[in-house]
Amino acid sequence: MASNVISILTVDDDETFLSVLQSALEGEGFHVEAAGDGVAAINILQTKQFDLVLLDVKMPRVDGIEVLRFIKDHYLDTQVIMLTGVSDVRIAVECMQLGAYNYVTKPYSTSELFTLIERALERKKLLLENKILKNALSQHAMSDEIIGNSKAMLDLLGVAAKVSPTDSAVLVQGPSGTGKELIAHFIHKNSNRNDQQFVALNCASIPENLIESELFGHEKGSFTDAHQQKQGIVELADGGTLFLDEIGEINLMVQPKLLRFLQTGEYRRVGGNKNLHAEVRIISATNRNLREEVDRKRFREDLMYRINVITLDIPPLKDRKEDIPLLVDHFLKKNVRTKELKMIDARALDLLVQYDWPGNVRELENVIERAAILCQDNLIRVEDLALPIGLRPMTHPTSGSIQIGSVIAMKEVERHHIDGVLKALNWNKSTAAQVLGISLKTLYTKIQQYNLKKD
Ligand SMILES: Nc1ncnc2c1ncn2[C@@H]1O[C@H](COP(=O)(O)OP(=O)(O)OP(=O)(O)O)[C@@H](O)[C@H]1O
Ligand SMILES: [Mg+2]
Repeated sequence: MASNVISILTVDDDETFLSVLQSALEGEGFHVEAAGDGVAAINILQTKQFDLVLLDVKMPRVDGIEVLRFIKDHYLDTQVIMLTGVSDVRIAVECMQLGAYNYVTKPYSTSELFTLIERALERKKLLLENKILKNALSQHAMSDEIIGNSKAMLDLLGVAAKVSPTDSAVLVQGPSGTGKELIAHFIHKNSNRNDQQFVALNCASIPENLIESELFGHEKGSFTDAHQQKQGIVELADGGTLFLDEIGEINLMVQPKLLRFLQTGEYRRVGGNKNLHAEVRIISATNRNLREEVDRKRFREDLMYRINVITLDIPPLKDRKEDIPLLVDHFLKKNVRTKELKMIDARALDLLVQYDWPGNVRELENVIERAAILCQDNLIRVEDLALPIGLRPMTHPTSGSIQIGSVIAMKEVERHHIDGVLKALNWNKSTAAQVLGISLKTLYTKIQQYNLKKD
């Protein structure tokens, strides 16, 4: 079998159903194997790996849940779609928490199933790509300090890793607390200059009239308070990396001098008339939009191009919610002051994933640090999270814990499930559509149909 043929295992105790499904799938070019019950499925799974498993929930002897557990224990990448009767929906939803990709209820249309299969395979491909990226990154310094499993972060770190060993000027952009300084360190640590100085200057923290002397130093007596000669930061960074944080704050008087230095390596101390020389790799950061600053004539265009050979845009945390649980875990481990590791309960974690994080990762780190100190019995609960009022814990539990009897209508289950997913993702509809395995258009229709509201 050619390795690019996608292999699918179908598991169902209904033989007629199984053979119909098999020929439909083979018609689409998939390699299909079938198992008539859970035992047979596990036997086949012990000998080979599949890209996707279509798994009936209810089967005699070993049921779908057990097979799913086996798959997730042995083949984390294998995608599983549960096939279920209406009365098993609750179990199917539970299966999703165990790692199944999604479920369809019988009877279903072939097109519905095929759409789901396509999405599940897409997800598998994405996970694999992420794994490859992560693997490549793990060779790099600081790779275990920068947390992120989202495609956005992994791509960004991939680019950062690539530019690190070059001397190219890098501009790191992103809202406050997204990790700009951390990325700057990462680049330095992975560069050929990693045994040299990394010198940071926060341009926002220095009075405007002192920036030039901070950068280039001054001669004794060059201005009223210049009692001594002073080395500039470019001199300290000579041979190493110079990190100019909040570079947008540098005023228009100093910008030409910085540009000249970056072009030629030459500068003069304030009050000095001797040309001095230093060679630095420049990384800058800003949470302003430099393009706008240029348009407003507050930042020189030529300087912008000079510092911005490579741009790294760090997305706000709310746009990469899948990183939140990983970051929480990281900060819990990072802040182990006592011997005991703190844990977080599911509702509290749900809340953290829902929240918008205007202060991004820094805010999350602070919230966790505080909660870890205040919590009782080493368990962080909702009440330990100092989040703004107005953000209440979910009134609807997420999908896994819905309490329903078998008489409840399918529509109600669906409404509940979609509502839970939307809430958990803070109404990020495109992510929710992906999670639910439906198109954005379908999601909009469902929101309207069930009259779902944000609050
Ligand atoms: N991906 C990440 N993994 C682990 N820690 C992170 C990550 N991103 C940010 N942090 C942590 O969050 C805090 C803020 O990061 P950093 O200071 O780099 O942000 P910043 O973008 O420079 O913020 P500001 O714009 O306010 O200067 C730091 O403690 C940093 O270690
Ligand atoms: Mg910073």
